[in-house]
Amino acid sequence: MLKEKIDIVDLDQHLNHQQPQTILTYAIKKYPNIAISFSGAEDVVLIDMALKINPRCGIFCLDTGRLHAETYQFIERVRNHFNADIEILFPESNTVEKLVSKKGLFSFYEEGHQECCSIRKVDPLKKKLSELDSWITGLRKDQSPNTRMNIPVIEEDSIFAQNNKPLIKFNPLANWSSLDVWNYIRSEDIPYNSLHDRGFVSIGCEPCTQAITPGQHEREGRWWWEQVTNKECGLHFKN
Ligand code: ADX
Ligand code: SF4
Repeated sequence: MLKEKIDIVDLDQHLNHQQPQTILTYAIKKYPNIAISFSGAEDVVLIDMALKINPRCGIFCLDTGRLHAETYQFIERVRNHFNADIEILFPESNTVEKLVSKKGLFSFYEEGHQECCSIRKVDPLKKKLSELDSWITGLRKDQSPNTRMNIPVIEEDSIFAQNNKPLIKFNPLANWSSLDVWNYIRSEDIPYNSLHDRGFVSIGCEPCTQAITPGQHEREGRWWWEQVTNKECGLHFKN
């Protein structure tokens, strides 16, 4: 385990200066049991790049049951555009039923988003990651100066590793800006969520996402009623 950790840190130093395609090529060849965690604009860029390397690369999406109608349409456009299988993962129905029966459909506005995110996003992700050796995300450093500034392009995932089995996480776009992402989307003419045309930048669940105004940081539209430092749902950082 220690040796793996040292290798991963070394590897990050090396891959950190490489293009996302090079990082993805390494990831997919070294860890065939890998999948892309898909929800937003960054992830479609990764899907486009990854399917050019291996047309059978796995893709999954966490359907919280609270996504915008536009997001469901987007997921379907991505499926059709790439002619790809996208695994749609639902939360445990019993747990969701208990939550909403006891606390209602909007408990996150009163109690914070952690409990609902944990049930609808984190638990299904944990279950999916138990099957994989490695996963790929669209995290970028400049998405959040508070929490994402130090994201490596490859890391050992200590949050979701289970049963002493190492889990490797790739963030091939860690060093890309939002502009890089949009330049790629336009130049390759790949689908994006139509909410982006209406001022939405970082898009999560419908009740917890707002459009932002010019000058606001991209994550200000997420869980806008909470502290800036609290804008993570547990998919990537321990809450
Ligand atoms: S979140 O933690 O605040 O929700 P964000 O929306 O910034 O995450 O997305 C960062 C990355 O997390 C995405 O590029 C994607 O890899 C993954 N991700 C976020 N939401 C989902 C989802 N619903 N399904 C699958 N992956 C997701
Ligand atoms: Fe629940 Fe909002 Fe988290 Fe979605 S973002 S899982 S609706 S608290």
